[in-house]
Amino acid sequence: LPTRLPIGVFDSGVGGLTVLRALRARLPGEDFLYLGDTARLPYGTKSAASVIRYSTQCAQALTGRGIKALVVACNTAASVALPALAETCNGVKVHGVVEPGAQAAVAASRAGSIAVLATEGTIADGAYSRAIARLAPDARVTGIACPMFVALAESGWVDGPIVELIAHRYLDGLMTGADPPDTLLLGCTHFPVLAPALARVLGGRISIIDSAATTAVAVTEGLKATGRVRDVGRRGRVRFLATDDPERFARVGTIFYGEPIDREAVELIDLGPTAEAAEPPVPLNYSTGRS
Ligand code: DGL
Repeated sequence: LPTRLPIGVFDSGVGGLTVLRALRARLPGEDFLYLGDTARLPYGTKSAASVIRYSTQCAQALTGRGIKALVVACNTAASVALPALAETCNGVKVHGVVEPGAQAAVAASRAGSIAVLATEGTIADGAYSRAIARLAPDARVTGIACPMFVALAESGWVDGPIVELIAHRYLDGLMTGADPPDTLLLGCTHFPVLAPALARVLGGRISIIDSAATTAVAVTEGLKATGRVRDVGRRGRVRFLATDDPERFARVGTIFYGEPIDREAVELIDLGPTAEAAEPPVPLNYSTGRS
């Protein structure tokens, strides 16, 4: 695969832009092609079978345009779909965010008590517990599914009283237990934008970390190992693909990316009919029982 090809990155929406930001910081000469499957977000509440199907379509859309590596910048997809994606992408190296996130958490935790905040899908799959147990068999891991955080982040609500109220609802029990965590791992790429609000709610008693920086290190190592790092003395280009409104993607994505996203750099794409759409519609029954 030619070194000049871009690196493909995808997420269910704009959350993966927190990973893209870290990738660009570490690999400034690379071009990137980012896909946000905004039409089908959230992935975190869907079945594993749906997430595998959606992720495979995202990967095919990116490999079809030519990429030299694929970064699954969505913990939910990385938890359940990595083996399927490795098969789909034959030859293109696929990087997830769970293993790098687990590494960051284990490195940060002194007492070995780690809380993972993620989507329902990621927590139900247990990918983080397994990855942390492989690296630190004695670590204690508490997983908390926080689906409302995805909705808040996607709405651009990253601080203020409503965010803090919801954070209290999810986290209050955590710090008062017998073994309060010393490390909070943000196991969803949508959550880093909420980190300042979470730090306020937790009162600085805990280190808050995410997968972005360690994922960027893993991708860099992977490219170095095959001699495919692109360094042409100028900053690489980034193109965006979205499956729903490009204007909204650019506007909300800017919060996650940390720099303005030009609407003109976002292309609307269709990933094809979903299996649900292919099924015959079920007639709705509005009967009140009084007819
Ligand atoms: N950003 C995705 C993740 O890291 C999930 C958000 C969602 O679609 O539920 O898990």
